[in-house]
Amino acid sequence: MSIIPMVVFLSVTFVISIGAFLWGMKVFSPVEIKRAALPEEHPDPLRSALEKTANGLSNVELVGKQYYEAYCMVCHGERGAGDGFNAFNLNPRPADLAAVKKKGDEHLFNVISNGSASVGGTPLCPPWGKTLGEEHTRSLVAYLHTL
Ligand code: HEC
Repeated sequence: MSIIPMVVFLSVTFVISIGAFLWGMKVFSPVEIKRAALPEEHPDPLRSALEKTANGLSNVELVGKQYYEAYCMVCHGERGAGDGFNAFNLNPRPADLAAVKKKGDEHLFNVISNGSASVGGTPLCPPWGKTLGEEHTRSLVAYLHTL
């Protein structure tokens, strides 16, 4: 091999190895990789339960909404005004929950658990305590406040 191709060959090899070395050392790299923010390892369960979800309700309220729609809406109506599709069958009519809410959470909790007869009303609003249990009844009370 004559001297000129030899010099060219060595310089090319030298440049390539320097490049590879710098690449390996991450001196330059084509894409900047950003680490995504990781969720906290142990999120506070109370905070995540009360944090608002995309539709504006907290997780607790969302649970209550499911129960409300399944068990209460037929009589109390979508917004709790006492105008559900079964309301016209009932005498007295289902309560307007906006008014009842003013009596406080414990009143709501007791009426829902033990039925309207337990507070001197008619038996038309059934007791839900055994169906829902304490935790879900509390979720329902939380949801009633969003109506
Ligand atoms: C079958 C129809 C019906 C269903 C289902 C029903 N209710 Fe009622 N609710 C009524 C009627 C009727 C009244 C009024 C009773 C009265 O005044 O004697 C009432 C009253 C109430 C009251 C007010 C009680 C008071 O006097 O303070 C609350 C609170 C209430 N309902 C919540 C609920 C919730 C929550 C659910 C679902 C878990 C539910 N109701 C399901 C018919 C219903």
